Amino acid sequence: MDITKLLHLLSDGEFHSGSELGMALGVSRTSVWKSLPLLEKLSILTETVKGKGYRVPGGLDLLDRQKILESVISFVPSSDFDIDVLLSHESTNNYLIDLVKKKELSKYHVCLAERQLGGRGRRGRVWVSPFAKNIYLSLGFSLEVGVDQLSGLSLVIGIAVAQTLEAFGVKDIGLKWPNDVYIEGRKIAGILVELSGEATTVWNVVCGIGLNVSMTRKEGESIDQDWASLEDYVQCGRNEVAAELIKQLIDVVNEFRIAPFEHFMSRWARYDVLLGEDVRVMPGEMYGKVVGVNKLGALLIDNGEVNEVNAGEVSVRRM
Ligand code: BTN
Repeated sequence: MDITKLLHLLSDGEFHSGSELGMALGVSRTSVWKSLPLLEKLSILTETVKGKGYRVPGGLDLLDRQKILESVISFVPSSDFDIDVLLSHESTNNYLIDLVKKKELSKYHVCLAERQLGGRGRRGRVWVSPFAKNIYLSLGFSLEVGVDQLSGLSLVIGIAVAQTLEAFGVKDIGLKWPNDVYIEGRKIAGILVELSGEATTVWNVVCGIGLNVSMTRKEGESIDQDWASLEDYVQCGRNEVAAELIKQLIDVVNEFRIAPFEHFMSRWARYDVLLGEDVRVMPGEMYGKVVGVNKLGALLIDNGEVNEVNAGEVSVRRM
């Protein structure tokens, strides 16, 4: 039984009889009925009414590989990228990290999943990833730049996410160094950049982006900070958002290949929410005022003298 196809048939939120679904899927009515626990396992609520059939109340905004592909290829040549759309995976970053172990990436490789069972955030945190609600996207590629340029990459990916939100008309977008994305002070997206390779050769890069689109308060109740979903601000489908994000990401990475972070500094400054703020850097005991970022993307903190803080495992808190 093709569960993805069944989900697409039910995604309109209308009732469909067992025989109609069975016919479309080339299976018996009993097989359709037997597949319902699988939907439950994906946390999809189904309603069964005698004489009417089955429905998913409210419908589902499912990812559609073909739609995303068609939208992206109007900007990026199809030979430059591949897209995998998964129903469920531990983590889209892990998917690409495993892929990179098997083959070198000669083009951009995108992985999207409807849900993640072990979505990972920065500093060992969990990334809440309910089914068909948000965007969980990873972009894998190889990159030939000096080791000193890599910290800037992480900030550049943040700029791509901010530009994606802007393309949908969202206002008051902020980037909190190194790359948390905010709308009106609430976190809407997080970025996890993971690297393998050697300083002297080519880096294998996996950039993972989690972007909240239509997560309910209940689904996000375990998140321990103020967060937002895109639908609080604008109405847009997940396929449109995914396609725009892919375009923006490929665009900025292509630019970054030929221009160092210095070239992105004015764009970063437009979104920088820490500029002028008094902060504490953790772990450690550094306090001071943020005076911007340097040409390599390190955070500059003034406490009598200007200190450089590099991304990685540090966190910066406003005071
Ligand atoms: C953060 O802590 O702010 C970073 C969150 C990154 C989450 C994304 S979702 C897609 C990709 N797969 C993961 O397991 N993590 C990243």
